[in-house]
Amino acid sequence: MIKVSVVGAQGRMGSHVVDAVNAAPDAELALALDAGDDLTQITPENTDVVVEFTVPSVALGNVLALVGQGVDVVVGTTGWTDDKLDAVRAALADAPREGQSVFIAPNFAISAVLADYFARLAAPYFESAEVIELHHPDKVDAPSGTAIHTAQGIGAARAKAGLGAVPDNTQTDGGSRGQVVDGVHVHAVRLRGLNAHEEVLFGNAGEQLVIRADSFDRGSFMPGVLLAVRKVASGGFPGLTVGLDHFLDL
Ligand SMILES: NC(=O)c1ccc[n+]([C@@H]2O[C@H](COP(=O)([O-])OP(=O)(O)OC[C@H]3O[C@@H](n4cnc5c(N)ncnc54)[C@H](O)[C@@H]3O)[C@@H](O)[C@H]2O)c1
Repeated sequence: MIKVSVVGAQGRMGSHVVDAVNAAPDAELALALDAGDDLTQITPENTDVVVEFTVPSVALGNVLALVGQGVDVVVGTTGWTDDKLDAVRAALADAPREGQSVFIAPNFAISAVLADYFARLAAPYFESAEVIELHHPDKVDAPSGTAIHTAQGIGAARAKAGLGAVPDNTQTDGGSRGQVVDGVHVHAVRLRGLNAHEEVLFGNAGEQLVIRADSFDRGSFMPGVLLAVRKVASGGFPGLTVGLDHFLDL
């Protein structure tokens, strides 16, 4: 049994993780902690893997503390910059236990990770490409980090294939053509009733390919979280790993 502690356990994601761990046949819940709780309760004796879903302003401090306490960490909290990732790498270099792991997933939804991957595969074969992301109206950033990542992947694949700019004869634009990320137009829709959705459109003369990923509720993230917990607990990923694609044998 993998002993899993959850930090941010009373949050929307953390409470789903508690339920998912309790339902998993190969995992058991160790500690469920939230704001104000003492993280030093978590030790290698009671915990194999910590799942961290809190808020961007505290996640780095939590991860550094947990690494110092000798436990592996799976992180879903967003807001990771290159500087913060470097701080995690430095902490892992001084970690008390050999081969300690931190895994950070900007997106735990397997459908979204695969859509991103398929988009990169398809990109060299189409003259046009655009990304549309659709979310609930409470989301504070636009476009989503996932959509930016998808557009960057398409842009890189196009550049590698020697494709030029996407065709676009727009002469006037009041903002409707979206944000251009590495040459790819990205559009954001905010609509009550939606959760998290992404559509990647590719076009050639006379044909279109649409890749679409839909996360209907937070349960969609749990298979990815449990996959990450199992991979990290296996000991096969020492150091810092970013992105669920590393665990999908793509
Ligand atoms: N990677 C993914 O696939 C994915 C998916 C959904 C959400 N997220 C991200 O996960 C994070 C959490 O989202 P949410 O919707 O659950 O938020 P939430 O606000 O519902 O939950 C955050 C929880 O963290 C707790 N918390 C705050 N400070 C803490 C601290 N110092 N120590 C311990 N707990 C603390 C809060 O009390 C709260 O219970 C956000 O950054 C969100 O963007 C990531």
